[in-house]
Amino acid sequence: MATKEVDEHSGTETTGHAWDGIKELNTPLPRWWLWTFYATIVWAVGYCIAYPAWPLISSVTPGLLGYSSRANVATQLEEAAAAQQIYIEQIGALPLEDIRTNDDLLSFALAGGASAFAVNCSQCHGSGAAGASGYPNLNDDDWLWGGTLDDIYLTIAHGVRFDDDSDSRYSEMPAFGRDGILNREEISDISEHVLALATQEHDASAAERGAELYVENCAVCHSDNGSGDTALGAPALNDAIWLYSRDRASIRAQIQVPNHGVMPAWAHRLEDVTIKQLTVYVHSLGGGE
Ligand code: HEC
Ligand code: HEC
Repeated sequence: MATKEVDEHSGTETTGHAWDGIKELNTPLPRWWLWTFYATIVWAVGYCIAYPAWPLISSVTPGLLGYSSRANVATQLEEAAAAQQIYIEQIGALPLEDIRTNDDLLSFALAGGASAFAVNCSQCHGSGAAGASGYPNLNDDDWLWGGTLDDIYLTIAHGVRFDDDSDSRYSEMPAFGRDGILNREEISDISEHVLALATQEHDASAAERGAELYVENCAVCHSDNGSGDTALGAPALNDAIWLYSRDRASIRAQIQVPNHGVMPAWAHRLEDVTIKQLTVYVHSLGGGE
């Protein structure tokens, strides 16, 4: 039977446990440790009273200070919205050029424009705005309807060949084949001339025959050398950037019955501030004019 006793070397009481003659001292906890421990208990009690702490069935104990992380987030969001409001008001009030040359407004507009683009435009123009056949690439500096801020704004706000907007950009390449303006041979010759303009492989004598027909029928919109006309949305034919495909069959098909691409107008669906941000964003992509 082990018994408690006072150890003669340390002067401390033993616990009464002994193994093979080795006895266990009952050394008290250090004071500093004990007081720290008590302090944490007091802190925990105080915390539970002051802050939300104990789970209840459908809520928690609210705490006397009325703190709520949810309310905190709400205030932060309000503050952020208020900060944005300042930018939004300025974008609404200033001309496009002033937005582009103000660093703060520009970065705000680029971010807002990029997210509005992802939601409204990427279906047709692609998420990187690189476009697809019939949907122009907006990253290059080749513009159907002009690449100045004002040009781009007009295109986005009122669309292209969009029936429900009387300010929509409009021009229609005639259906030379379907409407019997040119016969098959003439279309074939003009196509060779267009291939020649674009420095593609072509039949030289047919292209020569097509040259005059081109001047009579096409130059009014696409210009004599094929450089196009942004006032009419007529693409340049003498470069490597094509709205549709640049192969012989597609060129003939376009002369037979043109595509008449449609771009929706956004003025009725998006706020003007959003259209302005989109304009600045699109302008920045393509190295606008
Ligand atoms: C339903 C498909 C569609 C959607 C959605 C669409 N576009 Fe277009 N967009 C087109 C087509 C097609 C054209 C080319 C029209 C033509 O043949 O002239 C075009 C042309 C443009 C042009 C003129 C490019 C140039 O070279 O002049 C701009 C700028 C443009 N879109 C921006 C936008 C923006 C910004 C949005 C989103 C708010 C958007 N588009 C949404 C189909 C679309
Ligand atoms: C009234 C103006 C107008 C006339 C005239 C015209 N075009 Fe066009 N052309 C356009 C427009 C606008 C487009 C854009 C695509 C669309 O709307 O279908 C276009 C597109 C094209 C394209 C496709 C270009 C690309 O980048 O994919 C070709 C090729 C073309 N035209 C050839 C001709 C030829 C050849 C003639 C003469 C026989 C001609 N066009 C006459 C306005 C015209």
